[in-house]
Amino acid sequence: MKSPIITDLENRYTTKKYDPSKKVSAEDLGVLLEALRLSPSSINSQPWQFIVLESDSAKQKMSDTFVNMHQFNQHHINAASHVILFAHKTTYQRKDYEHVIDKGILDKRMPAEQKEAALAAYGFVELNEDAQGEHKAWTKSQTYIALGNALHTLARLNIDSTTMEGIDTALISDAFYKQLDGYECHVALAIGYRDSSEDYNAPLPKSRKAFADVITIL
Ligand SMILES: Cc1cc2nc3c(=O)[nH]c(=O)nc-3n(C[C@H](O)[C@H](O)[C@H](O)COP(=O)(O)O)c2cc1C
Repeated sequence: MKSPIITDLENRYTTKKYDPSKKVSAEDLGVLLEALRLSPSSINSQPWQFIVLESDSAKQKMSDTFVNMHQFNQHHINAASHVILFAHKTTYQRKDYEHVIDKGILDKRMPAEQKEAALAAYGFVELNEDAQGEHKAWTKSQTYIALGNALHTLARLNIDSTTMEGIDTALISDAFYKQLDGYECHVALAIGYRDSSEDYNAPLPKSRKAFADVITIL
């Protein structure tokens, strides 16, 4: 019998046309947001913010950021049920990691006496510092773990989605400057339900490289 995991991954696809009348329930949205929060990251850094655009006004603000480029993605913003901005912290400071350690102590993962020893892991962040003293390549890669987690969670929930790297990071920074202070958004995720009669992508068969082209078992 086929694993339900494989069925989920075969059934999910990138939606190209949404039915604006269909909304994701609060319950399902809650599951998705908890899956995002539970996503793993290097040294448990969690250098991210997930900005959920739910109201018409927030979605319109996002839609307006497509004025210069990537208009092929603009339809999804107002037609989808929600749009989630995946944002990463450009500079991940020692105090950011200290906050993670303090939460670990609160959650009883470690006693307070181990705080200084635990902070040594910040050295890993320093190894990933760029010439500008920032860590954005490293923090951005963490957000993609949450993205993958979200895509699988959505597949399980039978919610359609569109990942969008085709967005205007600079205009998003301007539009959502209050929420994105110290963060950048390079990828967004529209979620909702397909318009089956209009979505050319929905009936297409899935296509991936052959097993032997991507998997090596030694
Ligand atoms: C990181 C990433 C960025 C993507 N950006 C876009 C995008 O801007 N617009 C779009 O329509 N699809 C985008 N896609 C969808 C991919 O083209 C799609 O996932 C891929 O062709 C595989 O097809 P499937 O998702 O239908 O299985 C993106 C996917 C990923 C993972």
